[in-house]
Amino acid sequence: MGISIYLSRFLTLFLCLVFPSYLAIRGTDSLSDTALLFSSLSRRAEAVHFALTSPLAPAPAPISTEATGRRRKRYPSFPDALAHSINSFEQYAFLAEKVLQRKHARYAKQTPAQKAISNKIGYSTHFEKSRKAVELNARFVEQIAQIARAHYHTGPGALEDEEDADFGLVDLAFGHLSRDWSTQGAKERQAVFPRVLDGLERHFGGKGRGKKVLVPGSGMGRLASDIADLGYDVTANELDYGSILAYHLLTNHTHSLHQHTLQPFATKWTHQANPSSRYTALTVPDHWPNKSVKLVEGDFLNMFPEDAEFDAVVTLFFIDMSDNVIDFLSNIHRLLKPGGVWINLGPLKWGTHSALQLSAEEVLQLADVLGFDVDQTSRKSIDSLYAEQPETLLKFTYVTQFWSATKRV
Ligand SMILES: C[S@@+](CC[C@H](N)C(=O)[O-])C[C@H]1O[C@@H](n2cnc3c(N)ncnc32)[C@H](O)[C@@H]1O
Repeated sequence: MGISIYLSRFLTLFLCLVFPSYLAIRGTDSLSDTALLFSSLSRRAEAVHFALTSPLAPAPAPISTEATGRRRKRYPSFPDALAHSINSFEQYAFLAEKVLQRKHARYAKQTPAQKAISNKIGYSTHFEKSRKAVELNARFVEQIAQIARAHYHTGPGALEDEEDADFGLVDLAFGHLSRDWSTQGAKERQAVFPRVLDGLERHFGGKGRGKKVLVPGSGMGRLASDIADLGYDVTANELDYGSILAYHLLTNHTHSLHQHTLQPFATKWTHQANPSSRYTALTVPDHWPNKSVKLVEGDFLNMFPEDAEFDAVVTLFFIDMSDNVIDFLSNIHRLLKPGGVWINLGPLKWGTHSALQLSAEEVLQLADVLGFDVDQTSRKSIDSLYAEQPETLLKFTYVTQFWSATKRV
């Protein structure tokens, strides 16, 4: 605590001394830039002071500005992916600041005349507003990291490998949170969830209460929760700690609906119709996560040794994530009881890592070869967006494929 107070005082003193000299050197033309820089630096000093003096917040590890070529530190007591995710949440504010600094550097390279014109349309105010949004988001993701550190007993300094942090991981988690647990995500959910829930209810003839359902690749867990709300006994499975840690916060450390506010798109400035859409705020969760859902953390292919454990397996935006779809479909088949149902809805956006990049027809031929009876009458193509920024001018529509298939007896 003592060190942190000295550090924040030092920063404040430093700013007071540097600011006048900076003005003198750059001249009054750059006054508004300088004021921006000053307010950003002083807020950073406050943020550092806050982060260091808060009894809850651990001090974030510094970010290196250049690759040092050091070997990556190993954390033997818990998975690398977990350390990477905690690091990414803890360093979010710094990583987001770097994104904004890159934007500011491009803006600042303009001629004074160009800058004056861009300021007439209020462009320079975006740096200020985005930084405020990043600070709001940082408070949210710091909670995720703290809860994770306590939950996995990481110890306070265990993760300070400064290169091991990823802005994209947090950005992705924000998109998934918005899709699964905000009112803004309701439209995307409504396009696909009812079809899946209806498929389950049809298969069990409305008597599914207590039936065992597996949702592999459950992401932030909303579909699993909605299935549990219907009375099924649901197991969710996920390997990405970005999603797992955020889900922990919502499920086990949230006391009221809409408790957490974030502005997840504050660093996304392209494809905007209006200046303000960058700062769309959303609150989560918009619905209570169903606490009866059991979350199994880890790879779907390794985590379920028992055969024929489930009455249903539901895959949503999942099968195309596989390295080899034969492994995923074989595992779904193995885990189902004879006569059990596999319900799928999702795109076929195979990655370059996928051994097979099958068409929908080929996936269903494969399912038949592996021992499924595909209900051809169930098949539908459904247009769906996924984790889109509200009001974006770029909309990516998946023509998702829905089907229901049963394990041949
Ligand atoms: C496109 S996301 C969809 C998430 C969720 N089903 C939804 O619709 O929002 C695919 C998810 O599958 C997870 N995943 C991919 N391979 C997996 C595996 N082998 N085991 C468990 N989860 C996996 C990813 O981490 C990711 O969260």
